[in-house]
Amino acid sequence: MSDAAPRRAYYVTTPIYYVNDKPHIGHAYTTLACDVLARFKRLDGFDVRFQTGTDEHGQKVEKSAKAAGSDPRSFTDAGSQKFCDLLAFMNFTADDFIRTTEARHINSAQAIWRAIAKAGDIYLGHYEGWYAVRDEAFYAEDEVKPGPNGKMVGPSGAEVEWVKEPSYFFRLSAWQDRLLAFYASHPDFILPESRRNEVVSFVKAGLRDLSVSRTSFTWGIPVPDAPGHVMYVWLDALTNYITAAGYPDTNSASFRTYWPADLHMIGKDILRFHAVYWPAFLMAAGIAPPRRVFAHGWILNKGEKMSKSLGNVLSPHELVNEFGLDAVRYCLLREVPFGQDGYIGRETIIARINGDLANDLGNLAQRVLSFIAKNGGAQVPQPGPLSSADQALIGAAEKLLDTVRLELDRQAFHRALEAVWLVIGDANRYIDKQAPWTLRKTDPARMATVLYVTIETLRRIAILLQPFMPSSAARILDQLAVSARDFAVLAPGQGLVAGTPLPPPAGVFPRFVEAADAGR
Ligand code: ME8
Ligand code: MG
Repeated sequence: MSDAAPRRAYYVTTPIYYVNDKPHIGHAYTTLACDVLARFKRLDGFDVRFQTGTDEHGQKVEKSAKAAGSDPRSFTDAGSQKFCDLLAFMNFTADDFIRTTEARHINSAQAIWRAIAKAGDIYLGHYEGWYAVRDEAFYAEDEVKPGPNGKMVGPSGAEVEWVKEPSYFFRLSAWQDRLLAFYASHPDFILPESRRNEVVSFVKAGLRDLSVSRTSFTWGIPVPDAPGHVMYVWLDALTNYITAAGYPDTNSASFRTYWPADLHMIGKDILRFHAVYWPAFLMAAGIAPPRRVFAHGWILNKGEKMSKSLGNVLSPHELVNEFGLDAVRYCLLREVPFGQDGYIGRETIIARINGDLANDLGNLAQRVLSFIAKNGGAQVPQPGPLSSADQALIGAAEKLLDTVRLELDRQAFHRALEAVWLVIGDANRYIDKQAPWTLRKTDPARMATVLYVTIETLRRIAILLQPFMPSSAARILDQLAVSARDFAVLAPGQGLVAGTPLPPPAGVFPRFVEAADAGR
């Protein structure tokens, strides 16, 4: 044995979610995207670290705890548990769940503060200006306007209040040129491209120094050697990404393996924090910035971003209980081009279940497997010489791994699925045309070849769908008696073995019938 191939690591993160919120489908959406990437990369032989967690400090959490009649400590314990439970419920395979109240994180946040201060990029001053507690963000005079109820609001619609207090500042203004140079030399750092352009114009317009400590409340990480100051919650929260990789121990195996992160997956609401402040903090502290920040769009409900404050949230529990987990996972990533805003509702999910899942994939599996059970001796058929139609279908299925890799490497989940469904469509047309039910009488050897080609195509499809629909893909692979399931089995010469006994088939994707219509 030689230690031949270099270890390929892949570090992907979700935002850490505000602990005062109840998890909704928007949170599940971001984590799902990361879960699919993590699963895909593991099957593709990478050493994966998939990180999520909860953001537990700051004025918003302190206020929410008070409003709930609770102390921040027990309030955050309970809130964090809900996000933790969502992982199991959605079959998410996070490798670690970080809480910003953990000692490892407090230590790490204080260490990055010291590193930035040591570099001369932090100074003591006085903040006077607008602050939105809901966004935990400072806004400039030209970013606020009177809101519907007379109070001033920021660009997100969150109420702002006038804040006046002693504060440490981060010398962000000094980073403008270095940030622009960084974006220019790393064209894929911010995706999609429209978001990148937004960030570049924002930075080109000039940066103001950023207040990075607060003195008017106490629920935060103490600023080292500065009594009365707690760290601005965004500096605290962003640092979770390096804490989880082992910071401040930059020589640890974990830090060296996983940092810089391959991908911070976020929603577009928090792009400025991730694409401007975060790389500036890191570079100031002498740490490499992450490789990519991908900002996806909103899941909308009634034309607005789904959020607790708007009272229009879809609960993952309700959707999954009604439609099944894998169908919800599939629809979330198939329905909306990833990166854009989009609407997900009962109707869109039902249409996808009955179309893509039941009619296309379910029907393909069901008809070929039950035909083999009845007429093919319940085993993998023995193929003869391949016709050009056979080769075309197998060839299309063989190309899928590269296509899906490419699409997922630019976070185009919808396009990856589209490519798989093109081959599912090809396979259904192939069976219709080859008509094994007719060949049964006229040419049984040819029938065996057609069945083999179809289920070998199905095997490839099911292997590739595992990251998206883990349980359903597993059930298809069980019915194909396939036990080796990582992408190594997509290499040449690894196909289904003729004569392997096949278990009795069972439908994997039933049609969805509205309760009111059932039994009509
Ligand atoms: O911003 N559609 O946490 P957060 C799609 N703690 N995605 C949505 C969504 C919707 N309707 N609503 C929320 C924070 N999201 C900070 C992050 S990271 C260092 C700190 C997703 O609980 C989206 O990814 O408000 C968004 O960026 C994230 O939830 C924000 O979660
Ligand atoms: Mg939010």
